[in-house]
Amino acid sequence: MSQPGLVILISGRGSNALAIIEAARDGRLPAEIRAVIADGPAAGLELAQQLGIDTVQIARDRFPDRTAFEQALAEAIEAFRPELVALAGFMRVLSREFVTRFAGRMVNIHPSLLPKYRGLDTHARALAAGDREHGASVHWVTPQLDAGPVIARARVAILPGDDPQRLSERVLEQEHRLYPAALALLLSEPVTHGHECNDETDALELDRDLDVDGRRIAG
Ligand code: GRF
Repeated sequence: MSQPGLVILISGRGSNALAIIEAARDGRLPAEIRAVIADGPAAGLELAQQLGIDTVQIARDRFPDRTAFEQALAEAIEAFRPELVALAGFMRVLSREFVTRFAGRMVNIHPSLLPKYRGLDTHARALAAGDREHGASVHWVTPQLDAGPVIARARVAILPGDDPQRLSERVLEQEHRLYPAALALLLSEPVTHGHECNDETDALELDRDLDVDGRRIAG
């Protein structure tokens, strides 16, 4: 039987997309990466291509409006018949219609411990608030930006002398562990699209001090 299919959407460097591709290759993530799709030129697209993954560019500036762009994007995604769509640094706010079309099939990674710091500049905001910890969350995509139910989080301690750059690098390292593990969790469940955690205590937590592998988390 073929493995469940995954399509990844990116806008830039694509380091999370690469972490997901690697996890699928070494067996930590039982999924077939069917394509990486970008909304314009993206470094990550070339890297994915070098790894033998199908890539598609749906350049936003080639469409007269968001509706036409999203229609083309949706068709490009559906052509690969994915079970799940993973947004990984995809820098466009998607319309309610688009999100509804992929409801229960689309997840995102956000660099904060949601529900804290939706939107941009999360690392600077966590530092400015004097937080002692920060991190990343994988969540279901719903029409409200970064507000869908959290599936998994990874926590990172904020250290004396941190600046947004240093903090973002440590968070990104954890994102690369978190995203494949969260996807593996979703795909390991018989009803893959039903998994969500509205209750904070229910969300998968990746502790940076634990040596966690996908199987242990999913199990
Ligand atoms: C990551 O920090 C992700 O959490 C955010 O955008 C960044 C994308 O980085 N949504 P990359 O393109 O995966 O390297």
